[in-house]
Amino acid sequence: MKNLKILNHPLASHYLSIMRDKNTGQSEFKESLDKISFLLAAEAYSSIASEARSVNTPFKKITGSKIKDTIVLLPILRAGLGLTKGFIDLYPEAITSHIGIYRDEESLKPVQYYFRFPKIKDKTDLNVIILDPMIATGGSVIFTIEYLLNMGVKKIRVVSLLAAPEGINAINKRFNKNEKRFIEIITCSLDEKLNDKGYIVPGLGDAGDRIFGT
Ligand code: PRP
Ligand code: URA
Repeated sequence: MKNLKILNHPLASHYLSIMRDKNTGQSEFKESLDKISFLLAAEAYSSIASEARSVNTPFKKITGSKIKDTIVLLPILRAGLGLTKGFIDLYPEAITSHIGIYRDEESLKPVQYYFRFPKIKDKTDLNVIILDPMIATGGSVIFTIEYLLNMGVKKIRVVSLLAAPEGINAINKRFNKNEKRFIEIITCSLDEKLNDKGYIVPGLGDAGDRIFGT
Protein backbone atom coordinates (compact mmCIF):
# COMPACT_ATOMS: atom_id res chain seq x y z
CA MET A 1 0.00 0.00 0.00
CA LYS A 2 1.38 3.34 -1.11
CA ASN A 3 0.45 5.24 2.05
CA LEU A 4 1.47 2.62 4.63
CA LYS A 5 4.50 3.55 6.74
CA ILE A 6 6.07 1.04 9.11
CA LEU A 7 7.98 2.82 11.85
CA ASN A 8 11.45 1.36 11.83
CA HIS A 9 13.02 2.51 15.07
CA PRO A 10 15.05 0.44 17.55
CA LEU A 11 13.26 2.02 20.53
CA ALA A 12 9.85 1.25 19.03
CA SER A 13 10.83 -2.43 18.65
CA HIS A 14 12.33 -2.46 22.14
CA TYR A 15 9.15 -1.16 23.82
CA LEU A 16 6.85 -3.12 21.52
CA SER A 17 8.61 -6.35 22.58
CA ILE A 18 7.92 -5.46 26.23
CA MET A 19 4.27 -4.90 25.37
CA ARG A 20 3.97 -8.17 23.44
CA ASP A 21 5.28 -10.18 26.43
CA LYS A 22 2.30 -11.77 28.18
CA ASN A 23 4.09 -11.41 31.53
CA THR A 24 4.35 -7.61 31.29
CA GLY A 25 2.06 -5.98 33.85
CA GLN A 26 -0.31 -3.06 33.38
CA SER A 27 1.99 -0.23 34.48
CA GLU A 28 4.96 -1.31 32.35
CA PHE A 29 2.62 -1.93 29.42
CA LYS A 30 1.20 1.60 29.67
CA GLU A 31 4.64 3.22 30.19
CA SER A 32 5.96 1.45 27.08
CA LEU A 33 2.95 2.62 25.07
CA ASP A 34 3.49 6.20 26.26
CA LYS A 35 7.11 6.04 25.06
CA ILE A 36 6.17 4.61 21.65
CA SER A 37 3.48 7.28 21.30
CA PHE A 38 6.24 9.93 21.11
CA LEU A 39 7.99 8.08 18.27
CA LEU A 40 4.72 7.64 16.38
CA ALA A 41 3.79 11.28 16.96
CA ALA A 42 7.15 12.48 15.60
CA GLU A 43 6.52 10.44 12.44
CA ALA A 44 2.86 11.47 12.05
CA TYR A 45 3.68 15.16 12.56
CA SER A 46 6.67 15.03 10.18
CA SER A 47 4.55 15.77 7.11
CA ILE A 48 2.15 18.43 8.39
CA ALA A 49 2.30 21.86 6.77
CA SER A 50 4.20 24.86 8.17
CA GLU A 51 4.25 28.50 7.18
CA ALA A 52 6.83 31.26 7.46
CA ARG A 53 7.08 33.31 10.62
CA SER A 54 9.40 36.19 11.29
CA VAL A 55 11.61 35.79 14.38
CA ASN A 56 13.88 38.34 16.07
CA THR A 57 16.82 36.43 17.55
CA PRO A 58 19.13 38.35 19.94
CA PHE A 59 21.30 39.13 16.86
CA LYS A 60 19.11 39.46 13.76
CA LYS A 61 15.73 39.03 12.17
CA ILE A 62 15.21 35.68 10.43
CA THR A 63 12.40 33.77 8.76
CA GLY A 64 11.40 30.90 11.01
CA SER A 65 8.32 28.70 10.77
CA LYS A 66 5.14 27.77 12.58
CA ILE A 67 2.62 24.97 12.09
CA LYS A 68 -0.09 25.98 9.63
CA ASP A 69 -2.40 22.97 9.75
CA THR A 70 -5.15 22.52 12.32
CA ILE A 71 -4.56 19.17 14.00
CA VAL A 72 -7.41 17.17 15.48
CA LEU A 73 -6.48 13.98 17.33
CA LEU A 74 -9.23 11.39 17.25
CA PRO A 75 -8.57 8.46 19.60
CA ILE A 76 -10.97 5.54 19.14
CA LEU A 77 -12.24 4.78 22.65
CA ARG A 78 -11.12 3.05 24.67
CA ALA A 79 -7.71 1.78 23.61
CA GLY A 80 -6.91 4.80 21.42
CA LEU A 81 -6.61 6.91 24.57
CA GLY A 82 -3.43 4.99 25.32
CA LEU A 83 -1.70 6.59 22.32
CA THR A 84 -2.52 10.23 23.08
CA LYS A 85 0.36 11.20 25.41
CA GLY A 86 3.14 11.70 22.84
CA PHE A 87 0.81 13.50 20.43
CA ILE A 88 -0.41 15.99 23.05
CA ASP A 89 2.96 16.53 24.75
CA LEU A 90 4.76 17.19 21.44
CA TYR A 91 2.06 19.54 20.13
CA PRO A 92 -0.30 20.76 22.87
CA GLU A 93 -2.13 23.00 20.35
CA ALA A 94 -3.70 19.85 18.85
CA ILE A 95 -7.42 19.54 19.55
CA THR A 96 -8.46 16.20 21.07
CA SER A 97 -11.75 14.83 19.85
CA HIS A 98 -13.24 11.37 20.62
CA ILE A 99 -15.09 8.57 18.90
CA GLY A 100 -16.37 5.59 20.90
CA ILE A 101 -16.46 2.27 19.04
CA TYR A 102 -16.34 -1.32 20.26
CA ARG A 103 -16.24 -4.52 18.23
CA ASP A 104 -19.21 -6.81 18.61
CA GLU A 105 -17.57 -9.99 19.95
CA GLU A 106 -19.58 -12.29 17.67
CA SER A 107 -19.80 -10.41 14.37
CA LEU A 108 -16.55 -8.39 14.88
CA LYS A 109 -18.46 -5.44 13.36
CA PRO A 110 -17.87 -1.95 14.83
CA VAL A 111 -20.57 -0.51 17.09
CA GLN A 112 -20.40 3.27 17.62
CA TYR A 113 -21.52 4.76 20.95
CA TYR A 114 -19.95 8.25 21.10
CA PHE A 115 -18.73 11.07 18.86
CA ARG A 116 -17.52 14.53 19.76
CA PHE A 117 -15.75 16.74 17.22
CA PRO A 118 -15.12 20.53 16.95
CA LYS A 119 -17.14 22.62 14.49
CA ILE A 120 -14.61 23.65 11.81
CA LYS A 121 -16.21 25.21 8.70
CA ASP A 122 -13.16 25.61 6.46
CA LYS A 123 -11.53 22.19 6.37
CA THR A 124 -8.73 23.11 3.93
CA ASP A 125 -5.98 22.97 6.57
CA LEU A 126 -7.61 20.35 8.76
CA ASN A 127 -5.60 17.20 9.49
CA VAL A 128 -7.24 14.48 11.54
CA ILE A 129 -5.06 11.86 13.21
CA ILE A 130 -7.02 8.73 14.18
CA LEU A 131 -5.39 6.90 17.09
CA ASP A 132 -6.01 3.20 17.72
CA PRO A 133 -3.29 0.76 18.85
CA MET A 134 -4.83 -2.19 16.96
CA ILE A 135 -5.95 -2.52 13.33
CA ALA A 136 -7.39 -6.05 13.20
CA THR A 137 -10.22 -6.51 10.64
CA GLY A 138 -9.93 -2.76 9.97
CA GLY A 139 -13.65 -2.34 10.69
CA SER A 140 -13.27 0.31 13.43
CA VAL A 141 -10.85 2.41 11.37
CA ILE A 142 -12.92 2.11 8.17
CA PHE A 143 -16.03 3.23 10.07
CA THR A 144 -14.12 6.24 11.48
CA ILE A 145 -12.57 7.24 8.13
CA GLU A 146 -16.02 7.06 6.47
CA TYR A 147 -17.46 9.26 9.20
CA LEU A 148 -14.73 11.86 8.63
CA LEU A 149 -14.97 11.78 4.82
CA ASN A 150 -18.74 12.36 5.10
CA MET A 151 -17.98 15.45 7.19
CA GLY A 152 -15.69 16.78 4.42
CA VAL A 153 -12.32 15.99 6.03
CA LYS A 154 -9.70 15.41 3.32
CA LYS A 155 -6.45 14.79 5.20
CA ILE A 156 -6.54 11.75 7.46
CA ARG A 157 -3.75 9.84 9.17
CA VAL A 158 -4.30 6.60 11.06
CA VAL A 159 -1.73 5.76 13.73
CA SER A 160 -1.56 2.29 15.26
CA LEU A 161 0.85 0.10 17.13
CA LEU A 162 0.06 -3.17 15.33
CA ALA A 163 -1.80 -3.97 12.14
CA ALA A 164 -2.96 -7.23 10.60
CA PRO A 165 -2.59 -7.62 6.81
CA GLU A 166 -6.35 -8.34 6.64
CA GLY A 167 -7.12 -4.91 8.13
CA ILE A 168 -4.65 -3.01 5.94
CA ASN A 169 -5.99 -4.75 2.81
CA ALA A 170 -9.57 -3.90 3.78
CA ILE A 171 -8.71 -0.21 4.31
CA ASN A 172 -6.74 -0.12 1.07
CA LYS A 173 -9.55 -1.74 -0.92
CA ARG A 174 -12.14 0.63 0.51
CA PHE A 175 -10.34 3.98 0.18
CA ASN A 176 -7.29 4.02 -2.02
CA LYS A 177 -9.00 4.81 -5.31
CA ASN A 178 -9.70 8.51 -4.78
CA GLU A 179 -6.55 10.58 -5.31
CA LYS A 180 -8.16 13.81 -4.06
CA ARG A 181 -7.95 12.81 -0.42
CA PHE A 182 -4.94 11.93 1.66
CA ILE A 183 -5.12 8.83 3.85
CA GLU A 184 -1.92 7.59 5.45
CA ILE A 185 -1.42 4.71 7.90
CA ILE A 186 1.51 4.63 10.29
CA THR A 187 2.15 1.53 12.37
CA CYS A 188 5.02 -0.08 14.28
CA SER A 189 4.44 -3.58 12.90
CA LEU A 190 2.53 -5.42 10.21
CA ASP A 191 1.90 -8.72 12.01
CA GLU A 192 1.22 -12.16 10.51
CA LYS A 193 -2.56 -12.63 10.53
CA LEU A 194 -5.82 -12.66 12.48
CA ASN A 195 -6.86 -15.73 14.45
CA ASP A 196 -10.39 -17.17 14.29
CA LYS A 197 -11.53 -14.80 17.06
CA GLY A 198 -10.30 -11.73 15.18
CA TYR A 199 -7.19 -11.18 17.34
CA ILE A 200 -3.88 -10.14 15.81
CA VAL A 201 -1.19 -12.88 15.81
CA PRO A 202 1.45 -12.74 17.25
CA GLY A 203 -0.04 -9.47 18.56
CA LEU A 204 -0.17 -8.49 22.21
CA GLY A 205 -3.66 -9.63 23.26
CA ASP A 206 -6.47 -7.20 24.06
CA ALA A 207 -4.95 -3.73 24.07
CA GLY A 208 -7.82 -2.03 25.95
CA ASP A 209 -7.81 -4.65 28.70
CA ARG A 210 -4.03 -4.45 29.12
CA ILE A 211 -3.98 -0.62 29.20
CA PHE A 212 -6.88 -0.25 31.61
CA GLY A 213 -6.43 -3.43 33.67
CA THR A 214 -9.93 -4.75 32.92
C1 PRP B 1 -10.23 -3.01 19.74
C2 PRP B 1 -9.13 -2.08 19.29
C3 PRP B 1 -9.69 -1.47 18.03
C4 PRP B 1 -10.51 -2.60 17.46
C5 PRP B 1 -9.75 -3.19 16.32
O1 PRP B 1 -11.24 -2.34 20.37
O2 PRP B 1 -8.81 -1.12 20.25
O3 PRP B 1 -10.51 -0.34 18.25
O4 PRP B 1 -10.68 -3.58 18.51
O5 PRP B 1 -10.48 -4.18 15.70
P1 PRP B 1 -11.01 -4.04 14.20
O6 PRP B 1 -9.89 -3.57 13.36
O7 PRP B 1 -11.41 -5.48 13.88
O8 PRP B 1 -12.19 -3.12 14.20
P2 PRP B 1 -12.31 -3.08 21.31
O9 PRP B 1 -13.55 -3.42 20.55
O10 PRP B 1 -11.65 -4.21 22.02
O11 PRP B 1 -12.75 -1.93 22.30
P3 PRP B 1 -11.91 -1.23 23.47
O12 PRP B 1 -10.91 -0.31 22.83
O13 PRP B 1 -12.97 -0.49 24.20
O14 PRP B 1 -11.25 -2.30 24.31
N1 URA C 1 -8.29 -5.67 19.43
C1 URA C 1 -7.31 -5.91 20.32
O1 URA C 1 -7.24 -5.28 21.38
N2 URA C 1 -6.41 -6.89 20.04
C2 URA C 1 -6.45 -7.58 18.90
O2 URA C 1 -5.58 -8.43 18.68
C3 URA C 1 -7.48 -7.30 17.97
C4 URA C 1 -8.38 -6.34 18.27
